[in-house]
Amino acid sequence: MTEDRTDPRDAIPATPPAQDGDRLTTAQGARVDDTDHSLTAGPRGPVLLEDHHLREKLTHFDHERIPERVVHARGAGAHGVFRAYGNAATVTKAGFLAEEGRETEVFVRFSTVAGSRGSADTARDVRGFAAKFYTAEGTFDLVGNNFPVFFIQDAIKFPDIIHAAKPHADREIPQAQTAHDTFWDFVSAHTEATHMVMWAMSDRAIPRSYRTMEGFGVHTFRLEAADGSTSLVKFHWKPVLGVHSLVWEEAQLAQGADPDFHRRDLADAIESGAYPQWELGLQVMPDDPSETFEGIDLLDPTKIVPEELCPVQKIGTLTLTANPTNYFAETEQVAFHLGHLVPGIQVTNDPLLQGRLFSYLDTQLTRLGGPNFSQLPINRPHAPVNDLLRDGMHQSAIHEGITTYVPNGLDDDRPTRSPQDAFVTYPTPVEGDKGRWQPVSFEDHTTQARLFLVSLSPVERAHLQDAFVFELGKCTDEGVRAREVALLARVDGDLAAAVAAELGLPAPEPRDVPDVAPSPALSQ
Ligand code: HEM
Repeated sequence: MTEDRTDPRDAIPATPPAQDGDRLTTAQGARVDDTDHSLTAGPRGPVLLEDHHLREKLTHFDHERIPERVVHARGAGAHGVFRAYGNAATVTKAGFLAEEGRETEVFVRFSTVAGSRGSADTARDVRGFAAKFYTAEGTFDLVGNNFPVFFIQDAIKFPDIIHAAKPHADREIPQAQTAHDTFWDFVSAHTEATHMVMWAMSDRAIPRSYRTMEGFGVHTFRLEAADGSTSLVKFHWKPVLGVHSLVWEEAQLAQGADPDFHRRDLADAIESGAYPQWELGLQVMPDDPSETFEGIDLLDPTKIVPEELCPVQKIGTLTLTANPTNYFAETEQVAFHLGHLVPGIQVTNDPLLQGRLFSYLDTQLTRLGGPNFSQLPINRPHAPVNDLLRDGMHQSAIHEGITTYVPNGLDDDRPTRSPQDAFVTYPTPVEGDKGRWQPVSFEDHTTQARLFLVSLSPVERAHLQDAFVFELGKCTDEGVRAREVALLARVDGDLAAAVAAELGLPAPEPRDVPDVAPSPALSQ
């Protein structure tokens, strides 16, 4: 008689054990009578190896830390919702952007780049602005920064710039990213960093709050509309509170008095109901084979497209409404990736972007302990998943059936492919000789650095000049300082001369500087 028997497999809990139940237990669910005293032979005798509760408690504690992110280790996150205006339907078929009124859950993580997990929030640095959209068509990650450009043009240089920006290898001093020899050595030798260095020395590098930061996707993406037409776009986040920065003295005081300055501000604002908001915007440019706009190479991540030439069109609002319940589970374990795309959004050949497509999954395999981290609650898509991936470290799903491949003739329940609504790579042509190229159109490194400088208000420019003097003043190598000042002379003679004078260096040789008009959108 087997009819009345229940299936014992139904008793396996569907989700991993959490901290529930009203009794203290071991990890195996056995109730614990005493968690304050180790098992000993006699009141003052040796501790016994037999004490499983002691060993389990200590062992788990010993393994509480996971590697911090190799960059962007210091961060703060929040949950929210994105609401689309619907006007993006003309350029993309991605439903979460295109459907008027559609709401999509989002998790955002803000970060500094160079500091370690315990470093201060208000250091002079770039800020990360990473958003995970849990869309009905799959997860889309927009992994951006609060500057619209980057230091380098090719991913192969990323380890080099980060090695140069992290503390010196011998003593781990100094911790401040921009205040040391290797940073200035790198950027003075890599002229493509000049534009980004302007941003890094400006007030943008010391935001007042995460709530008052802009965000940028940096790279150019390709959008695909329902009618098959495509366009090249840049993503922008515009804070509803406006853009505000600290002044340097405030930033330094906050580093000592409240290293959690930004983290606290974000959490307090959300807790008090002052929900931070950003509008998501697009710069939309024609998708023609040149992949340029007004002479700007759209594949060069050290270049912006000035908003005067191509205005930002707002397409929806992000509102952050809830703090994480648990920092580790959510903010620390969240895993962003530029390859997390949905139909309607495609990548381009920007060589920095292409390298990033490799790097994030690769690092997360180590940081999050194997290939199953998308099963962690914060990383789970809100769309149905049927990926045929199996096994692996920390597998926490119990997959059914014997086939994990398609097509197969054994199992009717296996998923089928869906050519109509799937993500299909847009077929852009590829040609050319294999080689390690430096595109000619990537070679102008000073025009936009000057564009940024001449767009600043007088007080912003004074702050930038002071920052160059302070930060470059920390560089002990006179040759490096002179090289950076000579580079500055190619951007602005007065700035270079003033910095040189303050640093006690000879005035640099005058150089021709690019002729550009200010861009008001670049000033705060
Ligand atoms: C984090 C690599 C450029 C934005 C990271 C991480 C790696 C990485 C390995 C740690 C990820 C993790 O542990 O989960 C690279 C490489 C780059 C590059 C190789 C260039 C080739 C950029 C650029 C941006 C950016 C240009 C901005 C547009 C971020 C952000 C995070 C991050 C926001 C933190 C994500 C989070 O909050 O978890 N990057 N990155 N990165 N990167 Fe990049």
